[in-house]
Amino acid sequence: MGIVRGTDLLVNAVASSMEEHVRFGGVIPEIASRAHLNEFVPTLESALTTAGVTLDEIDAIAVTSGPGLSGALMVGVAAAKALAMASGKPLYAINHLVAHVGVAVLDGGKLPENLGALLVSGGHTEILQVNSLSDDVRLLGATIDDAAGEAYDKVARLLGLGYPGGPVIDKIAREGDPKAIRFPRGLTLPKFVGSAENPGKHRHDFSFSGLKTAVARCVEQYQLRGEEVPVADIAASFQEAVVDVITSKAVRACQEHGLTDLLLGGGVAANTRLRELLAARCASAGITLRVPPRSLCTDNGAMVAALGAQLVSAGVKPTGLKFSTDSGQPVSLISLVA
Ligand code: KG4
Ligand code: ZN
Repeated sequence: MGIVRGTDLLVNAVASSMEEHVRFGGVIPEIASRAHLNEFVPTLESALTTAGVTLDEIDAIAVTSGPGLSGALMVGVAAAKALAMASGKPLYAINHLVAHVGVAVLDGGKLPENLGALLVSGGHTEILQVNSLSDDVRLLGATIDDAAGEAYDKVARLLGLGYPGGPVIDKIAREGDPKAIRFPRGLTLPKFVGSAENPGKHRHDFSFSGLKTAVARCVEQYQLRGEEVPVADIAASFQEAVVDVITSKAVRACQEHGLTDLLLGGGVAANTRLRELLAARCASAGITLRVPPRSLCTDNGAMVAALGAQLVSAGVKPTGLKFSTDSGQPVSLISLVA
């Protein structure tokens, strides 16, 4: 839950259910929804106290209507509707992905003109073109199966490294050889990529499920032979495959769409190798890379409030109370129109 004034962040209160997810080795939708329900009122109260404002002083309320896990979305939307109704404040039902981009205004004010965004987390892997935060965001590419963070989590499980997989693979990969095993780079064959003049169907898209299967087969081979699994080499080689495809596709999408600035967001933005390779490839392509602080990259309430505030100041009409969640909400729907 976040409270912002214009582009100033007053509070970003995160009620995380990570401990429970760690216990169960992943995000269980039912547990995530229950945590939302439990935490809403206490988090609201402490956010107002920390920000030093009363509910009365709030001008508008914004909530994520999608995309995402429908149970968690429903809890958030129901709570926000109740709050809007009880307080008589306008309510905006906004897009989670666009909110990941909108958070950047808290980290430096106005967004650059030719902006692209690369969102990489446990739930998404997307490249966006951001013409206007309030009315023109386009999806250039997305994963057709697993999200990148999800691949990290699944591979970590295969390697017996626990949940969440990203941070531990990031760490252990430093001790391994990224060239030890050549894992497949999803959707990089000419039939998917095509050319700039004649783009293939998946030119800017990602796929990580084949990579995950390749890692599983590789681990099995060692086990069948009764050999010790070279965990660090596999982790490093897997990570290199993920990061190589993500960075090369993001840079290509920027170049082909005239995007001079790229914003990185999502939990995987914390990854050391992703940051390093993306910074290097953006620099050689003349693209300015922006990476907000980690607390604003991972899912948070401030990003929703930040986008809400942008919509209010752009004069976008509030959604009102007659809307539902949309777990597949397209990125072009920045806020719902009632
Ligand atoms: O944005 P986020 O906190 O939550 C959502 O998924 O929406 O992202 C969590 C994901 C997890 O899959 C986790 O494994 C991954 O981000 N992650 C990382 C790193 N830190 C977190 N992946 C790679 N390297 C990291 N250092
Ligand atoms: Zn997210």
